[in-house]
Amino acid sequence: MARVFVCESGALADGDARKVEGESFAAIAVFNVAGSLFAVSDRCSHGNASMSEAYVEDDATVECPLHAARFCLKTGKALCQPATDPLRTFPVVEEGGQIFVEVEEVSA
Ligand code: FES
Repeated sequence: MARVFVCESGALADGDARKVEGESFAAIAVFNVAGSLFAVSDRCSHGNASMSEAYVEDDATVECPLHAARFCLKTGKALCQPATDPLRTFPVVEEGGQIFVEVEEVSA
Protein backbone atom coordinates (compact mmCIF):
# COMPACT_ATOMS: atom_id res chain seq x y z
CA MET A 1 0.00 0.00 0.00
CA ALA A 2 1.11 3.53 -0.69
CA ARG A 3 -0.15 6.66 1.00
CA VAL A 4 -1.07 9.37 -1.49
CA PHE A 5 -1.53 13.02 -0.48
CA VAL A 6 -4.99 14.38 -1.28
CA CYS A 7 -5.02 17.90 0.14
CA GLU A 8 -4.83 19.92 3.35
CA SER A 9 -7.73 19.04 5.67
CA GLY A 10 -9.21 22.52 5.44
CA ALA A 11 -9.28 22.36 1.65
CA LEU A 12 -11.99 19.68 1.54
CA ALA A 13 -15.15 21.25 2.92
CA ASP A 14 -18.29 19.40 3.95
CA GLY A 15 -20.05 18.17 0.81
CA ASP A 16 -16.99 18.61 -1.38
CA ALA A 17 -15.04 16.07 -3.41
CA ARG A 18 -11.49 15.96 -4.67
CA LYS A 19 -10.12 13.88 -7.55
CA VAL A 20 -6.71 12.32 -6.98
CA GLU A 21 -4.69 11.04 -9.90
CA GLY A 22 -1.38 9.25 -10.12
CA GLU A 23 0.70 7.29 -12.57
CA SER A 24 0.52 4.01 -10.66
CA PHE A 25 -3.20 3.88 -9.83
CA ALA A 26 -6.57 4.70 -11.35
CA ALA A 27 -8.11 8.01 -10.31
CA ILE A 28 -9.82 8.15 -6.92
CA ALA A 29 -12.56 10.49 -5.69
CA VAL A 30 -12.32 11.60 -2.04
CA PHE A 31 -15.39 13.02 -0.27
CA ASN A 32 -16.10 14.91 2.93
CA VAL A 33 -19.61 14.16 4.19
CA ALA A 34 -20.33 16.00 7.45
CA GLY A 35 -16.72 15.56 8.54
CA SER A 36 -16.42 11.90 7.55
CA LEU A 37 -14.00 11.13 4.75
CA PHE A 38 -14.57 8.51 2.06
CA ALA A 39 -12.66 7.45 -1.05
CA VAL A 40 -13.98 5.49 -4.02
CA SER A 41 -12.81 4.82 -7.55
CA ASP A 42 -13.39 7.98 -9.56
CA ARG A 43 -14.72 6.27 -12.67
CA CYS A 44 -18.35 5.25 -12.40
CA SER A 45 -18.86 1.48 -12.63
CA HIS A 46 -21.53 2.05 -15.28
CA GLY A 47 -19.75 4.37 -17.68
CA ASN A 48 -17.26 7.12 -18.20
CA ALA A 49 -18.32 9.60 -15.54
CA SER A 50 -16.13 11.14 -12.86
CA MET A 51 -17.53 10.47 -9.40
CA SER A 52 -15.70 13.54 -8.12
CA GLU A 53 -18.43 15.44 -9.97
CA ALA A 54 -21.21 13.39 -8.34
CA TYR A 55 -23.95 14.87 -6.20
CA VAL A 56 -23.21 14.19 -2.54
CA GLU A 57 -26.06 13.40 -0.15
CA ASP A 58 -25.97 13.75 3.64
CA ASP A 59 -26.48 9.99 4.07
CA ALA A 60 -23.04 9.31 2.55
CA THR A 61 -24.36 8.37 -0.84
CA VAL A 62 -23.50 9.92 -4.19
CA GLU A 63 -25.40 10.22 -7.44
CA CYS A 64 -23.53 9.83 -10.69
CA PRO A 65 -23.74 13.02 -12.77
CA LEU A 66 -24.25 11.10 -16.03
CA HIS A 67 -27.11 8.60 -15.54
CA ALA A 68 -28.02 9.16 -11.87
CA ALA A 69 -26.97 5.79 -10.44
CA ARG A 70 -26.48 6.09 -6.69
CA PHE A 71 -23.66 4.54 -4.66
CA CYS A 72 -22.94 4.09 -0.96
CA LEU A 73 -19.65 5.82 -0.12
CA LYS A 74 -19.07 3.50 2.86
CA THR A 75 -19.26 0.25 0.90
CA GLY A 76 -19.12 1.34 -2.74
CA LYS A 77 -22.32 -0.63 -3.37
CA ALA A 78 -24.51 0.41 -6.30
CA LEU A 79 -27.90 1.35 -4.84
CA CYS A 80 -29.92 1.71 -8.01
CA GLN A 81 -29.91 1.21 -11.77
CA PRO A 82 -28.38 1.69 -14.20
CA ALA A 83 -25.24 0.74 -12.21
CA THR A 84 -25.02 -2.79 -10.84
CA ASP A 85 -21.32 -3.12 -10.05
CA PRO A 86 -19.86 -1.44 -6.97
CA LEU A 87 -17.23 1.27 -6.83
CA ARG A 88 -13.95 0.31 -5.19
CA THR A 89 -13.40 1.86 -1.79
CA PHE A 90 -10.09 2.99 -0.31
CA PRO A 91 -8.91 3.80 3.22
CA VAL A 92 -8.64 7.51 3.98
CA VAL A 93 -6.25 8.80 6.65
CA GLU A 94 -6.24 12.29 8.15
CA GLU A 95 -2.97 13.09 9.87
CA GLY A 96 -1.18 16.29 10.77
CA GLY A 97 -3.82 18.43 9.12
CA GLN A 98 -3.51 16.57 5.84
CA ILE A 99 -5.67 14.01 4.06
CA PHE A 100 -4.22 10.91 2.44
CA VAL A 101 -5.69 7.95 0.61
CA GLU A 102 -4.11 4.51 0.70
CA VAL A 103 -3.75 2.79 -2.66
CA GLU A 104 -2.26 -0.41 -3.92
CA GLU A 105 0.77 0.32 -6.03
CA VAL A 106 0.52 -1.02 -9.54
CA SER A 107 3.81 -1.70 -11.24
CA ALA A 108 4.12 -0.28 -14.72
S1 FES B 1 -21.96 6.62 -16.05
FE1 FES B 1 -22.59 6.62 -13.97
S2 FES B 1 -24.62 5.89 -14.05
FE2 FES B 1 -23.97 5.84 -16.11
